[in-house]
This record gives sequence, C-alpha cells and structure tokens, in this order.
Amino acid sequence: MLTQEQLAQFDKDGCIAIEGYLSPETVKELNDEIQKLLGEIDLKTHPLTKFTTDEDEEHVGDDYFINSSDKICFFFEVDAFANGELVKPLPKAVNKIGHGLHMKNEAFRKITITDDIAAICKQLGFRDPRALQSMVIIKQPEIGGKVPNHQDGEFLYTEPQSCIGFWFALEPCTLQNGCLSFVPGSHKTAEIKRRFVKDLENGGTKFVDPKTLKETKDTNDPDDSKFVCVEIPAGSLVLIHNRVIHKSEKNLSRMSRNAYTFHVIEGEAHYDELNWLQVPPTAPAGTAEFSRIYVN
Ligand code: FE2
Repeated sequence: MLTQEQLAQFDKDGCIAIEGYLSPETVKELNDEIQKLLGEIDLKTHPLTKFTTDEDEEHVGDDYFINSSDKICFFFEVDAFANGELVKPLPKAVNKIGHGLHMKNEAFRKITITDDIAAICKQLGFRDPRALQSMVIIKQPEIGGKVPNHQDGEFLYTEPQSCIGFWFALEPCTLQNGCLSFVPGSHKTAEIKRRFVKDLENGGTKFVDPKTLKETKDTNDPDDSKFVCVEIPAGSLVLIHNRVIHKSEKNLSRMSRNAYTFHVIEGEAHYDELNWLQVPPTAPAGTAEFSRIYVN
C-alpha cells in the first residue's frame, strides 16, 4: 500500500521510489534466480537477438521478440558483439530476459501477483488491473546499453492511457551504473507523440503517430537538465506513470544493475492489434489473456 503522501507525490511527479519494498532475502532470491536463468540459456532455442530501443541501432521486432510475450526469452547487449561475434561469456552478454516471467517463473510471479500490488493498483484507480510485459533488465557492467528517453504509454498503448510500470531495483542503482532518471511532472504536460506498433504489412515493428498511424520520428526531447536521477538501494520499488518521460544511461561501471519490471494496464481499456505484445503472441488483440491482478 502507498501512504497518502506517496500517492500525492506520484500524482505530482509521475514517478516515485519506495525504498525497502522488497526484503533483502527476496532480493537475494531473485538475483539467484537470474543467475540460474542465465546458466540455462540454450542457444538452439534462444538466438542471439540484440535488444536496443536506440533508433540508430538494429531494431528489435523480429519474430523472437514478438513471440516472447508469454515466454522466458533472452536478449543480448549490443556491445557484447564485435563484428557479429559474441565477445563476452553468455551470462555477461544478456541485456534482458522477458517478457512472460510473471507467467512462467514462480520466483517472479510471486512478487507480481500479490495482495499488496493489488492494493496499490486499487489506490491508483484500476478496476481490472492486468499484468504484462514482465522482464529482468541486467544492464551489464561496462557494456549495459542506455535506454533513450521515452514514455511507457508509447509501448503499451491503451485508450484511454492506463499503463503503470512497477520497477524493482535488485541491486543499488547509481549514477555510475545507469540509474533511471525522469522529468518530474512531465506526465501532466507531455503528449504521447508516437507509438510503437507491429508493422502488419512488412513484419517487424515501427513508430507511428498515434492519430494518423503514419510513420514518425517525432519524440519528446527534454533538455538533460530537466531530468532527476533516481539513485536507490536494492529492494526499492519505483512506480512509473505511462506519460512520464524517463530514460537511463549506459552502464560504464564495473557493477551490474539488475532490475525486475512488469507493467499493469486497465483490462477495461481498449487494447488494439497494433500493440507489439499480445498474449498469446498470435492473438489478434485484447486483454482477455493478460494476467488478472484482482477481480473487482
Ligand atoms: Fe520505460
């Protein structure tokens, strides 16, 4: 549950960190689980798909990515490769594990579908909250990629907007290892100028204007000075509003920055077939198969 002060701060800023949300034992259990998953990668079933949201880089959007919505799939750091060859040991090369961890892994399911998460969703006004797009983000030492500024509503687009990110720090997040940063209050002023959609004609994914559905490069691009860094200890929970502008820098330190995140959308909101994430991946649209957090 959030206190009234935390709720008010979230409403004002669009992002809030709650320190000490997970116990040190739970944090350890989840980090151990990540190591276990990393030790089980089988390249026969998990191709070397690089994950990046950077437009200058090769874009995510292949079948492996689209089909990961209800599975445990591994995506690699771009800088773990040189001339097309993997130059890091496998467990040190993974950027991200997703996007159905809450469906397929008990350790992560049990911190996603909980009475307390349900209580927070209720406080935030959800009527039929559904969990989706769960993932571990590793941000590996020295090569962990940056995430350019974005709004989560671009990636999980509902009408009306409803997505809230639940983001758990599993290691300390610092300026050195690429902590989150956000523009306080931007959720009240910044429009969603683009949305990330499946390209139904050509395959893959692209960004389009949400109204015209024409391809666009238009983005919100606030000055760096507007961003506030979220330096937090392991065990913190960060809540992220669908319209708040946020990003994280490259990890140039020797420490990793493990995090687990999932998103919640309103099951009663419209969720169309253009969203990249569908459960099952072949389903045309709708929220019916997304994991219900509570029934009102
Ligand atoms: Fe995000």
